[in-house]
Amino acid sequence: MSKSSNVIAIVGKGGVGKTALSASLARVLISSEQNPLLVDADPAQGLTYLMGFGPDHKTIGLVRDEIIEKARAKGKDAKEEIAATFDYLIAETLMEKESFSLLAMGRGQSKGCFCPLNNLLRQAIESLSRNFPYVLIDAEAGIEQINREVVRSVTHLIILIDLSFRSIAVAEKIQETLKRLWIECRLGVVANRSSGDSSQIQEALRAQGIEIWGIIPEDPVLRENDLKGKTIFELPENSAMLIAAQKIAEKIS
Ligand SMILES: Nc1ncnc2c1ncn2[C@@H]1O[C@H](COP(=O)(O)OP(=O)(O)OP(=O)(O)O)[C@@H](O)[C@H]1O
Ligand SMILES: [Mg+2]
Repeated sequence: MSKSSNVIAIVGKGGVGKTALSASLARVLISSEQNPLLVDADPAQGLTYLMGFGPDHKTIGLVRDEIIEKARAKGKDAKEEIAATFDYLIAETLMEKESFSLLAMGRGQSKGCFCPLNNLLRQAIESLSRNFPYVLIDAEAGIEQINREVVRSVTHLIILIDLSFRSIAVAEKIQETLKRLWIECRLGVVANRSSGDSSQIQEALRAQGIEIWGIIPEDPVLRENDLKGKTIFELPENSAMLIAAQKIAEKIS
């Protein structure tokens, strides 16, 4: 991958392997000393755990709750104070390791619409992202986050699919949504846990003008690793998933 500001988001239906691929791509970037920023956009925080963090950490959702509470308690006077502490709060939420950083979005408890605050949060995250050559976003299942423009600033969108014709329909829908929102983003499909002949499906994707960035085989070592609750760093370097992730990283460079 070339060194510039790349924002890579991984989307797809529930359970297709988004978190496993995000963590594997993160490991590839970490081993080539790219110091990525990882954004765990799924409230379930699977990526956060897979990268080796425990349950006690701040999330953007919690920060958002704190700000809303402060604003409610102080009324208008809180505006300036909030503005002054905003970057500090985001920085405090950032989990830093020597070779990568991670921001967990979580989910706040506050009910109601706080659009100006959400916009501020998005801007703060976007400006933080600019300090990193690579940003990797593990999205929530489904395509809702694309519609909500949460991953608005992405440069590369990886649609992870299984090799079913239904998945192709989903990829096409995402392609349409992208055309409406960010035409400039590169889009590619990665097929996970594929076995058998996939040529017909690959053909259908190509006919739709969708690039195929990789095919990941079933990886029993990864499955075992996950069952034992191990981190991605405990996955052997020659595992099928890591080999595939390396190739995907080269493909989108
Ligand atoms: N190629 C693979 N080989 C074997 N197991 C895999 C493979 N890809 C993913 N898995 C396993 O499938 C399960 C689901 O994967 P993962 O949690 O990454 O999916 P997800 O898309 O992030 O799910 P969710 O939508 O719930 O966030 C995990 O146990 C993971 O280890
Ligand atoms: Mg996940």
